[in-house]
Amino acid sequence: MDVPATVIVGAQWGDEGKGKIVDLLAQDSDLVCRYQGGPNAGHTIVVGDETYKIRQIPSGVIAGKTSVIGAGCVVDPQVFLAEVDELESRGISTADVHVSGEAHLIMPWHVAIDQASERRLGKLQIGTTRRGIGPCYADKAMRLGIRVQDLLDPKILRQKIEVALAEKNVWLERVYGVEPLELEELASRLEECAQRIRPYVADTSLLVDGALRGGREVVLEGGQGTLLDLDHGTYPFVTSSATVAANAATGIGIGPNRIDRVVGVAKAYVTRVGAGPFPTEIQGPAQERVRELGAEYGTVTGRERRCGWLDLVALRYAVRLNGITSLALTKLDVLSAFAELPVCVRYRLRDGSEAEDFPAHQSDFHSAEPVYETVPGWEEPLDGELPEAARGYVEFVERALGVDVALVGTGAERERIVARS
Ligand code: IMP
Repeated sequence: MDVPATVIVGAQWGDEGKGKIVDLLAQDSDLVCRYQGGPNAGHTIVVGDETYKIRQIPSGVIAGKTSVIGAGCVVDPQVFLAEVDELESRGISTADVHVSGEAHLIMPWHVAIDQASERRLGKLQIGTTRRGIGPCYADKAMRLGIRVQDLLDPKILRQKIEVALAEKNVWLERVYGVEPLELEELASRLEECAQRIRPYVADTSLLVDGALRGGREVVLEGGQGTLLDLDHGTYPFVTSSATVAANAATGIGIGPNRIDRVVGVAKAYVTRVGAGPFPTEIQGPAQERVRELGAEYGTVTGRERRCGWLDLVALRYAVRLNGITSLALTKLDVLSAFAELPVCVRYRLRDGSEAEDFPAHQSDFHSAEPVYETVPGWEEPLDGELPEAARGYVEFVERALGVDVALVGTGAERERIVARS
């Protein structure tokens, strides 16, 4: 699969195994860029005996590619530096990592407010990763944010911290009843981070544009997944940025006509972390079985992921929202344990009607019941060429969606992938 400007987007609720697909496509590309999200994303990449878990830096860094954190991202300076240290200590250079000066900084008060607000919501909580993502994007929209470029000038940085903290401490103390943050300690910690981050700050829109003009191959990597998109996802159980492919252009600062391909990544089943409706969530012991076989625990939070059967209604919606031109279906090997595989082909709505298209109204989605077709399993390990029933499963998905499945993942390691076209 060649890659001029290719977007790789999660087609479900995140954790689809995008890291592995990015890692694969990165081998033939020059730049790997993230366009939204922050350290709420977690990528696991297995190379030989080494497992890398990275959250903030694009996963292309492992393949030694130019790595870009775009303007649409939010950056936690401490997480970023911890990752830099971890990668460098394992022999992976971060010299070619570039962070947009327009990206916003996740400050300690964003993390404190995310945690306090979730606690306060109690049963109604979103189940966020508690990494400060929502409060940081909220401040960006409020025009109160502190940006990566503010790290370049100690005086401006100090001033912005002072102004913001004066207000945030009122919130922390009076609204959430938690300890306020201490200005001097926080300012000096950030100044230390600033000194180390300065060399990474760049005009990343210009950098990516120059690369595309020079005929270099660029991968634009989405964080989270389509159903967590702020506008089109399962609001309010979503993240606070636009995860869909169109935002790759905005989030990096290039024109939408520069994007040639959109690769949707979907698991051969579905997982979801956090709260919110999930029509195909598996009832009974099979859910635990899928979780164990698929090691479905969060990369960032370690939380158990909820597991469900493949949902073609939701996947059809992801194809539409992103303009997906081909799919990568990951973790097919996890389904090898089952003799029969239910696949959701339609939803039954509360008025008794059945729909192939994702409901536009939240209440319809909340009450949607899955209508399954059962396809035969293969009950043998996947290694090399796919057995007939596994091919049948993949072709079932292709027929239902009218999109080719170009790649099939059959295990965690880099080489456990079957290219179909
Ligand atoms: P936030 O992005 O931390 O604000 O969390 C909002 C919602 O998005 C929660 O349901 C999280 O579990 C979910 N979420 C955020 N990042 C990821 C991810 O990388 N994978 C899966 N779910 C995520």
